[in-house]
Amino acid sequence: MSPAHIPVLLDETLAALALHPDGVYVDATFGRGGHSRAILARLGSAGRLIALDRDPQAVAAGRVWTDARFSIVHAPFSELGWVMAEMNVAQVNGVLLDLGVSSPQLDTPERGFSFRHDAPLDMRMDTSRGPSAAEWLQHADEAEIAQVVREYGEERFAKQIARAIVAARGVAPLATTGQLARLVAGAVRTRERGQDPATRTFQAIRIHVNRELEELAEALPQAVELLGPGGRIAVISFHSLEDRLVKRFLRTEASGPEVPADIPLPADKLPQGRLRLIGKAIRPTAAEATANPRARSAVLRVAEKLPDRKGAAC
Ligand SMILES: C[S@@+](CC[C@H](N)C(=O)[O-])C[C@H]1O[C@@H](n2cnc3c(N)ncnc32)[C@H](O)[C@@H]1O
Repeated sequence: MSPAHIPVLLDETLAALALHPDGVYVDATFGRGGHSRAILARLGSAGRLIALDRDPQAVAAGRVWTDARFSIVHAPFSELGWVMAEMNVAQVNGVLLDLGVSSPQLDTPERGFSFRHDAPLDMRMDTSRGPSAAEWLQHADEAEIAQVVREYGEERFAKQIARAIVAARGVAPLATTGQLARLVAGAVRTRERGQDPATRTFQAIRIHVNRELEELAEALPQAVELLGPGGRIAVISFHSLEDRLVKRFLRTEASGPEVPADIPLPADKLPQGRLRLIGKAIRPTAAEATANPRARSAVLRVAEKLPDRKGAAC
């Protein structure tokens, strides 16, 4: 059995979604269904929950659920609009995105996400498609590797790490997480307290291999499009690159398109945003962070879809 996943910010997420018992909800990151289970427990017999995950193992865990109100689809959330159209669902009351990796992904050595275990260097959330981390590292340019490690890992020694990877793969392909971790440890010259030197590089390669930021940027507008008036979007991020993207997207959607100052429009004709921000960013309590260290970096942002306003400029 794969390791368990403790849902993060669970009560806060349920409150954020302002669940209606008869509503239709999407959990776009099923994982092991911690949030899904709690949502279903609050829905009535007419409620419905549609889950997505790109990880075949997560989908297999959901397929054994027998609740008639629940269905699960193997798809990346960048295909949310298409998945819902296929299911003839035009509008929903809420969408949840709990980003990043699950504990079963991190803690199952063969998935290759963790430098704590020596295992094949895979790191794909969807093991059915795309190049693994080992395949990407074997063929990428040194400059591209350095850029990924610098941008997605915010790693000062990105250049040295990329150089070491390219030198090593010239001798033999990098096949395991242990090999990569040792190589990075040799290239990183200073140590951050309480952090393994491979942490930043592993995060960067994972983000790149899974196109995590591109997926998020593609999914957010589709989620907003899908929401009916009063519908809620709740997004839990785990690192600053994700959170910055979510924050900017929600702010832009809340403020609406800019109108040049010299175009005189009455207040009720001014273009309006599609969303209303709900509260500020929510972080785990000290008690949750202590009980579940993986929750420490979580940030939840919430917004609500506004009703269409007839007659606004656009
Ligand atoms: C943090 S876990 C979610 C945990 C879940 N909320 C729970 O309580 O069990 C993130 C999950 O989202 C999935 N995931 C990440 N990016 C995805 C994407 N672009 N499309 C679909 N699923 C994705 C991962 O495979 C993983 O199972």
